[in-house]
Amino acid sequence: MMYTRIAGTGRYLPEKILTNFDLEKMVDTSDEWIRTRTGVERRHQVRDDQTTSDMCVEAAKIAIEDAGIDVSDIDMVFVGTTSPDLVFPNAATLVQQRLGIPACPCIGMEAACTSFIYALTTADKFIKADETKCALVIGAECITKLVDWNDRNTCVLFGDGAGAVIVKPSDEPGIIATHLGADGQYKDLLYYPVGVSKDLHKAGTDEAAITMRGNEVFKVAVKTLGNVAAEVLRKAEIDQSELDWLIPHQANLRIIQATAKRLNLPMDKVILTVQDHGNTSAASVPMALDVGIRDGRIKPGQLLLMEAFGGGFTWGSILLRL
Ligand code: ACO
Repeated sequence: MMYTRIAGTGRYLPEKILTNFDLEKMVDTSDEWIRTRTGVERRHQVRDDQTTSDMCVEAAKIAIEDAGIDVSDIDMVFVGTTSPDLVFPNAATLVQQRLGIPACPCIGMEAACTSFIYALTTADKFIKADETKCALVIGAECITKLVDWNDRNTCVLFGDGAGAVIVKPSDEPGIIATHLGADGQYKDLLYYPVGVSKDLHKAGTDEAAITMRGNEVFKVAVKTLGNVAAEVLRKAEIDQSELDWLIPHQANLRIIQATAKRLNLPMDKVILTVQDHGNTSAASVPMALDVGIRDGRIKPGQLLLMEAFGGGFTWGSILLRL
């Protein structure tokens, strides 16, 4: 049996940090409100001239070094993002060129906060089909560029960053099971109202900003994330008590706590970065994975469950042994 194994990880966070106290000076909010409702204490923000592919390149360099490979070994690039630099070429192609990776399939995946889970799941299928021997998979987001900085309902939640992994085929597990889903009936609860073929003339105006019904998103997120975790464990016929780590999408501490409770997992088995990164959308899971590995908590051979939920709604989970 062929498995997909993670051979290296990396992350990049922009230099600029915005604390809750900085936000108190920008909108009618408080550090106390943000911390108690969301768990966020600070978040990183890109410079105006910085792009998603800039962050991808930095995260990828670290993952490539960590995996001990050469850029010429990479034969496929995936970038999951909702905030690509350009409409085309896609961000994966920009990253391929900038890193000097030989010409290869470069795939952009767009599934809001679930984009990295979609990208890694797709890479897993290509590895199992023997179509790639070494893939670079990135989740990255300049989501602060999509936020209305006068809207306290949304601007306190988000941050920028990029997380990258190198994956390779192996006889040893590896990714054990994956599960993806989406249901467009929830579109109006969370969306960005401007696109290439819809209301493009509104780009750059106040109308172009993340639109969210937070309370309703919260409820569906908790229910769905519990089900998504159960589904991937069921597929693998593994009991949740065997899990070493939950690496959830870092949308909100209360959503994460509720999901862990549904899995009967104590919070000390959950990798948390939401306090330092905010919600970085597609970047949050690969960055949390990198944080947990580099600080020594996540160890080789341990069983990890990664999961995400985002606009669409989209959702997905991956069960793997590191
Ligand atoms: N500071 C102070 N007050 C605020 C702020 C703020 N930043 N934002 C909203 N409020 C006010 C509201 O105006 C409201 O005031 P009112 O009662 O006078 O009308 C009050 O706080 C309560 O608002 P609620 O929306 O009911 O607060 P809630 O407890 O639901 O928390 C939150 C809001 C944090 C957005 C929560 O609903 C949430 O996290 N939802 C999930 C949204 C999410 O994670 N989205 C990210 C994208 S999807 C994903 O990644 C899963």
